[in-house]
Amino acid sequence: MTGAGISAESGIPTFRGAGGLWEGFRAEELASPEGFRKDPAKVWRWYRWRREVLAAAEPNGAHRALARLEATVASFTLATQNVDDLHERAGSRRVLHLHGEITRSRCLRDCGREVEEDPDLAVPMCGCGSPLRPAVVWFGEMLPEEKIALAFEEADRCDVCLVIGTSGVVFPAAGIPLLAAKAGALVIEVNPEETPISTACNCVLRGPAAGLLPKLLSEARICEEPVGGGGV
Ligand code: OAD
Repeated sequence: MTGAGISAESGIPTFRGAGGLWEGFRAEELASPEGFRKDPAKVWRWYRWRREVLAAAEPNGAHRALARLEATVASFTLATQNVDDLHERAGSRRVLHLHGEITRSRCLRDCGREVEEDPDLAVPMCGCGSPLRPAVVWFGEMLPEEKIALAFEEADRCDVCLVIGTSGVVFPAAGIPLLAAKAGALVIEVNPEETPISTACNCVLRGPAAGLLPKLLSEARICEEPVGGGGV
């Protein structure tokens, strides 16, 4: 399972901690249904800015290591709380986006139409006359049911659970490694800081993921980073 920390070394700000998004921005104004109702243009400005940051970013060694791991082991599931597409751009195929995807938008009324988002409109509109909204999960909203159910199913039956770059304070996602630990999996945390999940882990690797994860996979003789770094 991954959180914002895995994309930190790609230049995407995390949410909590020094320099995190929630330090400079108010979550209830920008990432809640109430905030969107009150000022949809402001919410769209913020998400468009985050999309621009993402468009300029590249996957790092940790994203690529997970893509190699998926290609190497028999069964692998990547559950991410991240709304960015860096896992996919690194080559990961089976990614469960538990908190949605920032590059997509959907109708506020969920009318189901496929629409082109008009970048010239401060608040892009759906063909049905309703505003479009970023296709992410906001505070107070349910996670995509099938994805979270599948993530818990996999946590319950996995042999190894890697928990990378998450503060472990947002549920239900934070329950995934806790369930894996309870079900007897080897749980490994990769994070420069201690988290509420740390005590449930069998092993903690303290440091940034882009350096540690490729090293872990190489030293455990699972898969090596190709010479030159890039690619899967
Ligand atoms: P947070 O910002 O809460 O936590 C980021 C974690 O990454 C912290 O524990 C950092 O110590 C760690 N970290 C920082 N740099 C790192 C690095 N280079 N390598 C590895 N770890 C590093 O982000 P999340 O846990 O993902 O929800 O936050 C969970 C949810 O809260 C987000 O999905 C978002 C937010 O509100 C929604 O938007 C619904």
